[in-house]
Order: sequence, then structure tokens, then C-alpha cells
Amino acid sequence: MSEAGADGTDRVDDRRGVPVGETIVLTGAARAAASTLRRQALSVLLECNPAAKASAGRAAGEHLDAGSDEAIAPPSGIPGRPERPLLVAPGAVPQRSIASPEGHAALIHALAHIELNAIDLAADACWRFAGLPDAFYRDWTRVMREEARHFQLLDAHLATLGHGYGDFPAHAALWEMAERTSHDVLARVALVPRTLEARGLDASPAVRHKLSSIGDRGGAAIVDVILRDEIGHVRIGNHWYGHLCRRAGLDPVATYEALAIAYRAPRPRGPFNIADRRAAGFSDRELAALSALPGTTPAP
Ligand SMILES: [Fe+2]
Ligand SMILES: [Fe+2]
Repeated sequence: MSEAGADGTDRVDDRRGVPVGETIVLTGAARAAASTLRRQALSVLLECNPAAKASAGRAAGEHLDAGSDEAIAPPSGIPGRPERPLLVAPGAVPQRSIASPEGHAALIHALAHIELNAIDLAADACWRFAGLPDAFYRDWTRVMREEARHFQLLDAHLATLGHGYGDFPAHAALWEMAERTSHDVLARVALVPRTLEARGLDASPAVRHKLSSIGDRGGAAIVDVILRDEIGHVRIGNHWYGHLCRRAGLDPVATYEALAIAYRAPRPRGPFNIADRRAAGFSDRELAALSALPGTTPAP
């Protein structure tokens, strides 16, 4: 028998060897194994060690109950973060040429940093918003698992370049959108998967080309894996954005514009990866609206 403790942890009181009246607090994999999809995601989010976060995220199962209706108070320590890398403003991240070994490693490090944040973003989407269909939590659990794999692939590749995660400064901007939209699931799915992750679809071809240009075929292959998975993540964002808009009787295009302004979302900039955006579920109307934004490059 288990129940949620007042501090949000799962307390088990019928384990063999535990005297009646005493409780133990599950941690790590044991806690994930005994919990709901939402609590499993929360435990991943709270993990500070990058390797442990990725391992727990990768091992996340979908066989648990979603725990959709449970009220979970946000605990302190969100998101769990390592002491390194040093987090700085986006403009303060040094720009290095990929032609140098340091610049090459810094690029792989920057991608690994994005993926570690992506684990947190998926975990936060999974645990934070109660009352949604079970499929919502299963979808974000799947995304969390794939983001964890992306981090592991990049972290391992970084090691082959003589570096580890934490060796370079990194920016703190990705998590900010999670904080701004923490009270509004419609804004979250509009502005994280459909905006930040969709920008990744646009950026991937150029990153892949950079890595190929210096003969990093392993790095380019990792970008291929990531791009394929990210189309699925954006598709999940589009699916749930459409679901929430229909449920509330909202026009998806006009609502997106209003949310982007209200939450100060980064404006999409071309060139756009139209084929992959379409594969990810953006409608022709949405793609046309995107291409018409001031300051963007027309879609090919
Ligand atoms: Fe990813
Ligand atoms: Fe993603």
C-alpha cells in the first residue's frame, strides 16, 4: 500500500523488513517503479545529476497509471540541476568556430544542453497539469524517454571529443518558457513543443551540415536521429494544442498569435523546414501564417 506523503514523496508502509508504523521514502528507480506516470516524471525532473536524470528518463515506463486526477503541489527544487555548466544569458555564450576542436566540442555540448533541458520540459509537461486524458501523460512520457536518449547520445559523443557535460557555459533560456507557462497547459503546448521544439526542426539541417563539413559523421547521424524523433514531439504538441483549442472553442491560429504575444515567445525566423513542420502536423493555414510573419524569410 502506498500513499502520497505531505511532502509529495511516496511512502510505503508494508515492505518486508520495515517495522509497522515506520515508513520509507522511495528514491530514484525504486520510486519511479512504484508510482504514477506523473510522479515518475516529477522524480526525473527533480534529479540533479545529468547522467542519473537521463537514465531515469530513459527507463521511464508507460505501464503505470497516469494519476491524472491527483493534486500534486509543486515541490521545491524544480528543475533538478547540476552545479555545472555555468548558466549565462543566451548572448553571453561564447561563439567558437566549429573548425577548432574546442568549437566542435562546444557545439556538441550546446546540443547536449538543449536535450537535458528537453528532458525537463517533457517531464514538466507530464507531471504538472492534472485532469487531462491518460494519453496526454503517455505521450509526454514517451517524449521524455526520447529526450533522455538524445542527451545520452550527445554526452557519449562529447566524451569522444575529450569533454564532458558541464565543460562549457550554457544558456538558461529554455526553462524560462516552462516557468512562464506553468499555470496554463494551452500556452505550454503552444509555446514549448510547437514553438521551441519546432525551431529545432528548422535548425537541424544547418547543424547537420556543419558537422558533416568537418567530417563528424557520427555527430551528423545523431542529429538525424534527433530530427526524426523531434518531428514526433512537435506532432504531439500539435495534437494536444488542437485538442485543447477544440475543447475551448478557440481558433488555433488566432489563439497562437495571442499566446505568443502574451508570453513573449521568440518569434519564428526562417528559413523554415516546411516539409518536416508539415509532417509534424502544422496545417497549411498555420504554415502560411508562419511565413507571413514580419522579419521572417519566406518558406521555400
Ligand atoms: Fe530531443
Ligand atoms: Fe523534443
